[in-house]
Amino acid sequence: MGNQAYLVAMAVAMMVISSFPAPAMGFFNVTPIGFDEGYTPLFGDGNLVRSEDGRSVNLVLNRYSGSGFISSDSYRYGLFSASVKLPFDYTAGVVVAFYMSNGDAFEKTHDELDFEFLGNVRGQEWKVQTNVYGNGSTSRGREERYLLPFDPTSESHQYSILWTPENIIFYIDETPIREVTPSETMGGDYPSKPMLLYATIWDGSAWATAGGRYKVNYKYSPFVAEFSELILHGCQMPILQQFSANSLDDDNEDGQHCAELESSLLVADYAVMTPEKRQAMRKFREHYMTYSYCYDVLRYPVAFPDCDIVPSEQRRFLESGNIKYTPRKHRKSKRRDPSFENLDVVDKEADL
Ligand SMILES: *[C@@H]1O[C@H](CO)[C@@H](O)[C@H](O)[C@H]1NC(C)=O
Repeated sequence: MGNQAYLVAMAVAMMVISSFPAPAMGFFNVTPIGFDEGYTPLFGDGNLVRSEDGRSVNLVLNRYSGSGFISSDSYRYGLFSASVKLPFDYTAGVVVAFYMSNGDAFEKTHDELDFEFLGNVRGQEWKVQTNVYGNGSTSRGREERYLLPFDPTSESHQYSILWTPENIIFYIDETPIREVTPSETMGGDYPSKPMLLYATIWDGSAWATAGGRYKVNYKYSPFVAEFSELILHGCQMPILQQFSANSLDDDNEDGQHCAELESSLLVADYAVMTPEKRQAMRKFREHYMTYSYCYDVLRYPVAFPDCDIVPSEQRRFLESGNIKYTPRKHRKSKRRDPSFENLDVVDKEADL
């Protein structure tokens, strides 16, 4: 990569970074737990390294293995959060994920809520993908991808999933970036069964970066993702519990706990979309969203009923659902390097 282009990109990135509100402690007003209080190693044990105080954990990917952890309990509804600092430098093909799923229990009807961080070639930003599956809707992926308004490798940022019966909100720090609300048309595609929390780092060479064009290069390993500020503020419910009105029965202690938690969740500040938050969300999406299933007419000729098609937003996307980029004038005559795709988007932001 040309040094000059890299420096320009960094300068632009710095300008964008300074306009993003820093995470204030206590926004969610929920106390983080120690790793062992809520989580247990899932795979790649040797590559899972707890901090001395047990409050944070590093997940490592090297040429031998990735690693991951899983919550000890499953939850139906709640606020789930982790601060994550992503691996630095050349991270093409590396995937870091923080997500909820019940895929191991329900092969055909699983639910899932994802944050997936997709590594990139040097000098480019990580991308974040969110996705929602409900009741086995795997043929109806609802992926969205975004660039980040900050350098996610220089410090930790908080990534949160709020899941209630009334809405799902993905947060980055204090900014809501996506909201999903249940509707009749969405039906069972809205997740409703208990799920476990997962955090993993793995080799996604096959698809993570530019559709698999850039593989993991282990010359740059180990790749280390740091997880801290772990929040599991949810209603604990066995994953296979037949959920019905009965599961929230006041007669049963768990039901009582869940009913109380659910009603407190519904009125929590972070569950309520104020006009200010909605505006912040729109602004984030206008500036940073680089792919939306709602605009991917090649995959979904008819947009899902739950899509909120914003014409001014739609104009910025190709039929593939990917953002159009604005080629820079001074590079017009040069051979286009596909690894610069993101820079064009960043440039465009700077022009706004
Ligand atoms: C989930 O899918 C199963 C199997 O297709 C179906 O029987 C069930 O009614 C669905 N549940 C919801 C909530 O839509």
